[in-house]
Amino acid sequence: MIIAVDGPTASGKGTIARALAAHYGLPHLDTGLLYRAVGRQCALNAADPDDPRAALVACAFPDGLLADPELRSEATGGLASRVSVHPGVRAALYERQRTFATRNGGAVLDGRDIGTVIAPEADAKLFVTASVAARAQRRFLEMQAQGRTTTLAEIETDLAERDRRDRERSEAPLRAADDAVTLDTSELGRDEAIAAALAIVEARTA
Ligand code: C5P
Repeated sequence: MIIAVDGPTASGKGTIARALAAHYGLPHLDTGLLYRAVGRQCALNAADPDDPRAALVACAFPDGLLADPELRSEATGGLASRVSVHPGVRAALYERQRTFATRNGGAVLDGRDIGTVIAPEADAKLFVTASVAARAQRRFLEMQAQGRTTTLAEIETDLAERDRRDRERSEAPLRAADDAVTLDTSELGRDEAIAAALAIVEARTA
């Protein structure tokens, strides 16, 4: 069984994907981490993330970089969204994601284009969304817990900018697949969101 979980930043898709993976005993891939690693590698190379060639070079990041805590920062998220507009970068990361999605026994992947590009044949597709205000508040609390200094206003501006870039890019823009079920988590707590996601997958795969 392949489960695709797409949606914007801080919508709760990562939490939901991890919970679904644990529930069904499936491996989970956070595909945003791959784009974050490319963005981070660009910074380490002192390269311009908006330059398609420099971003492509950064796709050869060492696997060890995936464990770098800096990957979780807002700054790296911004770099990830800039490198992810390049078709060459998306193509370079495609095989790794596709191989994961099609492994025996199934998988859960979360990202922006899992249901539309990486695994269009997924058995269940969720499009997890939430208002900018709800997402900014969650991200703010996460950042505070990690001891990172930032303001709610900064996060809101950053989220809105990243949403715009992810939605407007020509290659694999963020959008719900036609056969995805949309789950709005603005008013839901963590457990409620997970329960709602499970109910959707159960209904889809029954
Ligand atoms: O999900 P996360 O915030 O970690 O993703 C960081 C950035 O990577 C996103 O803003 C998006 O631009 C890009 N991304 C993507 N396709 C994916 C996953 C992430 O373009 N499948």
